[in-house]
Amino acid sequence: MNLKERNENMREFFNRKSDGYDEVHEKFMTTKNQLIDKLDINATKILDLGAGTGLELIHLYETRPNARTTAIDISESMLEKLKERSFADKVETICGDFFDVNFGSGYDAVISTSALHHFLKDTKLKLYKKIYESLGENGEFLNADKIALSNEAEEESLEDYNLHKDERPHIDTPLSIEHEVEILLQAGFKDVKVYETEKEDYRLIKAKK
Ligand SMILES: C[S@@+](CC[C@H](N)C(=O)[O-])C[C@H]1O[C@@H](n2cnc3c(N)ncnc32)[C@H](O)[C@@H]1O
Repeated sequence: MNLKERNENMREFFNRKSDGYDEVHEKFMTTKNQLIDKLDINATKILDLGAGTGLELIHLYETRPNARTTAIDISESMLEKLKERSFADKVETICGDFFDVNFGSGYDAVISTSALHHFLKDTKLKLYKKIYESLGENGEFLNADKIALSNEAEEESLEDYNLHKDERPHIDTPLSIEHEVEILLQAGFKDVKVYETEKEDYRLIKAKK
């Protein structure tokens, strides 16, 4: 199964999950809020990758009512939920695959929560380069996502992926922190900072253009 087919499977997976999504994921609000609180004080032009139903945007609009967000997601059903939020008129939604959609440019910040841990290292590097290009001068990328707790754990997920990729639509292949930082630097980012979160296998990573 190639990347396009896997992403299409992901779309169907989240279309099926969208109805009960918030009930399950609201318990992880602390990490989403932590990401928003780490945004640069002046950041108002935001790109949210894999915004889903927009849970992370709740705290964004509580703290920055003037923010303007572009929210990209492959699942139309998840975005339909986002469009019901009170702040929806300040969010432009784009339904499409990260690897097909034009991100636009000049963002103060690109944010993402829980949306990138199923991409392999080389694919993720391509995405990080695209994110880098979409940022304005001094822009920043903040990603709160699942990580592998060691390089060995990363290898194990990869083995699982290689064994089951054709029959399972959603296999997590998180990178270790060492490899996350490595590809962010390769993509051109600097000042990469890593923060612990409430979940042992989640980190908040902040990187500067
Ligand atoms: C676990 S949800 C996270 C939603 C939200 N950010 C949150 O933290 O609650 C992951 C989201 O990423 C989206 N996604 C996954 N792969 C994608 C891709 N290739 N292109 C665009 N969106 C994608 C899914 O459709 C889903 O809505």
